Amino acid sequence: MITGKICLPTGKTKIVGVFGYPIKHSLSPAMHNSAFKHCNLDFIYIPFEVKPDNLKDAIKSLIALNINGINLTIPHKEACLPYLDEIKREAKLIGAVNTIEVIRPRKLGTPKLIGHNTDSLGFIRSLKEFNINLRDKTVLILGAGGAAKAVCFACVLNGIKEIYIVNRTLKKADILAENLKNKTNFKNIFSIPLEDTHLKNILEKTNLFVNATSVGMKKNDPLIVPVDYLNKKTIVYDLIYNPDRTKLLKFAKKKGCFTINGESMLVHQGALSYEIWTKKNAPVEVMRKALRKALNG
Ligand code: ATR
Repeated sequence: MITGKICLPTGKTKIVGVFGYPIKHSLSPAMHNSAFKHCNLDFIYIPFEVKPDNLKDAIKSLIALNINGINLTIPHKEACLPYLDEIKREAKLIGAVNTIEVIRPRKLGTPKLIGHNTDSLGFIRSLKEFNINLRDKTVLILGAGGAAKAVCFACVLNGIKEIYIVNRTLKKADILAENLKNKTNFKNIFSIPLEDTHLKNILEKTNLFVNATSVGMKKNDPLIVPVDYLNKKTIVYDLIYNPDRTKLLKFAKKKGCFTINGESMLVHQGALSYEIWTKKNAPVEVMRKALRKALNG
């Protein structure tokens, strides 16, 4: 890498990046390129706009173009599975891959594409940052989409007591609950609709409340659960990072709850991808600072 004010790649520079559609607003290039620069690693992280119809060819091109690894974001996290050689346990459980590692044999042999999912462990690492342990906790997850799935598996694999999946579309919560039960053998999983009358009682006993829906991203989004029943001892985690304080977090803070936003999980899932590709510890604080700058800039 030729350094100076601008870093230019050379023939020796290792290439990583992200495939997504759309991709223009991805914050990952800022996070990773700052980390590489800080650690003096000759890597570059490039965002690639890959339309769904081109995903298969794009994944094949990782080998042809000698790319070292790639992140996958919307809408490719599940669609990529058939094109990989090996899928790690967490990714297999979640049914989604957000990081591909390209392993090239030192001498002869064909390169292999390994699929990882760093969202789940990213969530756990973000909790560790705040000294939060999931053991024996009652967890309420709001939402049943991709983000909720990664958080649910993280919770179930880390010793929680019980988990309530609350979703607008009950069928999706039911499917996620069944999937979790079948794949993990953990049975204390309950799916309930948003308007369930028991929600008040569940909120009162919840230790960790996670918003894994997109509700809260827009200024006028409503509070979709009866948050008046939140216990002040409940930790309220909103996976949304923009805005940094959603209506839910503001309300919870006023109530006296400990609150966390989505920035930390985003940084840690990125840090884990960095570690998979470079085999070195990620400079988490550098990545966090770059993320904040990209968000505000
Ligand atoms: P992601 O991959 O980011 O989790 P997703 O798979 O589209 O995104 O899931 C979005 C989640 O937000 C879903 O649980 C969705 O509820 P439905 O399953 O009923 O669609 C939830 N969600 C989005 N908008 C919502 C709204 N206005 N009210 C309640 N829930 C909403």
